[in-house]
Amino acid sequence: MSNNLHRGAYPHTRLRRLRARDFSRRLVREHSLSCDDLILPLFVIEGRGETQKVTSMPDVERLSVDLLAKKAKTLLQLGIPAVALFPVVDPAHKSDDARAAYDPDGLAQRAVRELKNAAPELGVITDVALDPFTSHGQDGLMDNSGYIVNDDTVEVLVQQALSHAVAGADVVAPSDMMDGRIGAIREALEREGHVNTLIMSYAAKYASAYYGPFRDAVGSAGNLKGGSKASYQMDPANSDEALHECALDLQEGADMIMVKPGMPYLDVVRRVKDELKVPTFAYQVSGEYAMHCAAFDNGWLNRELVILESLTAFKRAGADGILTYFAEEAAQLLQD
Ligand code: PBG
Repeated sequence: MSNNLHRGAYPHTRLRRLRARDFSRRLVREHSLSCDDLILPLFVIEGRGETQKVTSMPDVERLSVDLLAKKAKTLLQLGIPAVALFPVVDPAHKSDDARAAYDPDGLAQRAVRELKNAAPELGVITDVALDPFTSHGQDGLMDNSGYIVNDDTVEVLVQQALSHAVAGADVVAPSDMMDGRIGAIREALEREGHVNTLIMSYAAKYASAYYGPFRDAVGSAGNLKGGSKASYQMDPANSDEALHECALDLQEGADMIMVKPGMPYLDVVRRVKDELKVPTFAYQVSGEYAMHCAAFDNGWLNRELVILESLTAFKRAGADGILTYFAEEAAQLLQD
């Protein structure tokens, strides 16, 4: 008698019935990952035929511009819609005013031109932020007290974004977290006739310790003065604030918004998607990549299965697309 009491709807309802066969699992699957969801971040270096390994990011290579163009063709064949470019700037070109950021012939600008030339259909997203170009490795200009000043930084960001648009970037992606930069960039793009240049705003970007390997990859870690970016990036403890940030950036003219990092912040992705209902992206950042690779390389996790599971989780959380260093491999896995 008593063991019937706790059975609820069973055996009338057996959730395992739909899980018993592959066809029915496929029919009721709520979310799916496709190559259309993937954006590959790429690190660009000077030179020709040059590749460099990134110690803290196994299998990730910095590529010279000519190799980037080759890579673009492979990515197109795999059905990957877009790449996000990050230049690795020679220390000689770093300065306090970050003027190399808007050099029309800078590494990022040349990389954009070369990519659009080699593979015009591949979407090119550029990073708008000053950290590769400042001597102190912060994303903006620093005053004498070490504070990152907002409005003067925004002026430089506007020039940087414009130089990317002129070079042919399809999407500019401000990752600096200054206030008002989206509005200022949008206004400048309109004024200069770049009406179809998209803005993907790193709107809810947290002051995260998961960016460590990226800072190694672009060479901004060693010189990061002050260590922290907490005076402009968001406090990991907040999520109401993420909605505020995203809503403002949309109002200022962003076409797409991003939450970053990814997996530890999937609750934020879900809230943003539910409340704002706009194209929402998430970044599976360098630390997440490194963490996964460490477990794969030790044989502790199954590489293929975990890559696909981790990316599917972003889709389930409501992301329209994912920036991930696994993009190429995931696209290959999805093809097989
Ligand atoms: C810099 C920038 C960072 C990332 C993307 N753009 C690092 C930072 O803010 O310090 C991180 C990406 C990653 O960790 O994969 N504006």
